[in-house]
Amino acid sequence: ANNFDSRAKLAKDSVLEKVLKSGTLKVGLEAGYLPFEFMSKDGKLIGFDVDLAKEMGKELGVKVEFVNTAWDGIIPSLQLGKYDIITSGMTRTLQRALSVNFTEPYYETGQVIMVRKGETRFNSYKDLNNPAIKVAVKLGTTSDIVSGKMLKKAKRIPFKTEADAAMALRTKKVDAMVYDKPFISDYVEKFNDVKMMPELFSKEFFGFAIKKGDPDFLNWLNLFIAEIKANGTYEELYNKWFVE
Ligand code: ARG
Repeated sequence: ANNFDSRAKLAKDSVLEKVLKSGTLKVGLEAGYLPFEFMSKDGKLIGFDVDLAKEMGKELGVKVEFVNTAWDGIIPSLQLGKYDIITSGMTRTLQRALSVNFTEPYYETGQVIMVRKGETRFNSYKDLNNPAIKVAVKLGTTSDIVSGKMLKKAKRIPFKTEADAAMALRTKKVDAMVYDKPFISDYVEKFNDVKMMPELFSKEFFGFAIKKGDPDFLNWLNLFIAEIKANGTYEELYNKWFVE
């Protein structure tokens, strides 16, 4: 059963209206980004974003359907209507905000550097800013954008997935990997031949992204974030995924 009986009050062209009518919230994300969205050993899609999206569905009284989409197509597929929202650890950037609308932030983090265990050459990200240093990043993500600005002199090597970038580091094809702290923190827990440098060298805020021009949906999502923070749901899920 649907939780809303005041549906008629929604703007006719709001995605929210469509979601409530169809009974399904379609959620776009790219799995492989621990601990926000990834596959469990038994092949289930799990993570912080996955739980948050399920919570949205619960509040709306609708089913949630996940659409796994490669990063380079994640905004275009939203525009094409393949899903209603992106919950994919996406950093709010001014550039992206020209093509999507972002909610208020639901998570704060930034870029860090991962190196092999025996590495002794680097004390700060600045030590990587050298043409002799190869740095793996993920194509089209803030690792790519931020290191393009802050590690201008380094040789930046973009990979399609975070797993491939990390593998390039472990197999000595590059000297370091730049990526979001939550992913790197989890990765170094799993693989003991790599370590994380403690310095956080960018400040980033994740938001959910929706199509432009939908104030009803945007408002609902912002209130959703405020509510789960007020009622303990956010803290519960945060502790589930980020605190060991
Ligand atoms: N926060 C980074 C960005 O927005 C990377 C996010 C990658 N997310 C993912 N599900 N693969 O560019």
